[in-house]
Amino acid sequence: MIGRAHGKIILIGEHSVVYDHPAIVIPFYESTVSVTLKESPDNTIESDIYSGLLSDAPDLLHPLSALIETLQTKLATPSYVVKIESNVPIGAGLGSSAAIAAAITEAYYQNANLKLDRQTHFDWVQFSENLAHDNPSGIDALCVTRQDGWYFTKQSFSPLEINLPAYLVVGDSKMHTPTKQSVKHVASLLKQNEDFHNIIDSLGKMTIKAKDAIERKDIFTLGDTMNGAMEGLKALGLSTPTIEKLNQSALHNGALASKLTGGGMGGCVIALCYDKFTAEKVSAAWRDDFSINTWTLNLLGG
Ligand code: MEV
Repeated sequence: MIGRAHGKIILIGEHSVVYDHPAIVIPFYESTVSVTLKESPDNTIESDIYSGLLSDAPDLLHPLSALIETLQTKLATPSYVVKIESNVPIGAGLGSSAAIAAAITEAYYQNANLKLDRQTHFDWVQFSENLAHDNPSGIDALCVTRQDGWYFTKQSFSPLEINLPAYLVVGDSKMHTPTKQSVKHVASLLKQNEDFHNIIDSLGKMTIKAKDAIERKDIFTLGDTMNGAMEGLKALGLSTPTIEKLNQSALHNGALASKLTGGGMGGCVIALCYDKFTAEKVSAAWRDDFSINTWTLNLLGG
């Protein structure tokens, strides 16, 4: 039995979503996690980042080891070798920690022959996310356990159909920062100065505008809101010189918008393009000039 999950891409609203504003997120099916369990005398992890006894796992894996131990106790399962295969880059804004937690949870429920309803699945991933970073909004836990795009706030969420005549290029800026760090950074800014609250509020307003643009299939206004959001995220100190260069390159090559996605301070950048030709140009420039991994998503019928 295999537990599976996918990554996620926040189109707009990262960070402000922590402060009760909305965000828009879509599943990223190109990046996936699968987890298999095999009975074993001791809990053990097999993964690219660590292989060995769960009890010796590095601190970085604490949210996952706590999840495994709690699942084992609650579901009364034996000890397992937990084999994690993931191509979601870690700390890149694509929801890797939530996706791994989701796949582990699914694998445990399958092996225990128990039905896993959506709310329970979400709750387990949030349990792990709460240990991974201090104040998770829940957007990652939702998106990695469900299909569809979502208009999400901490209080409520509804499916948002993303069916746009556009392409999204995703590029991994290669510098990866844990979400915990960027969320903490923003929290400390907000304690310092009222201006930062205004930026968070304006990110929230841009997200509302972006939702309206998506519903009207107006990719140009959507692009404007994404570029505006990038300015706000930059003002919050979440950009990096590489992200800036990737944005400039994308816009120079014809993208409508280019911004960081997820926690920032590195991680992935997304560029909105109105046709395949432009998407290929942006992607080729990112790969050739910055030697980074890229993915291209057709947003029609997504
Ligand atoms: C991380 O994918 C998105 C953040 O807004 C944090 C969160 O919502 O929990 C930065």
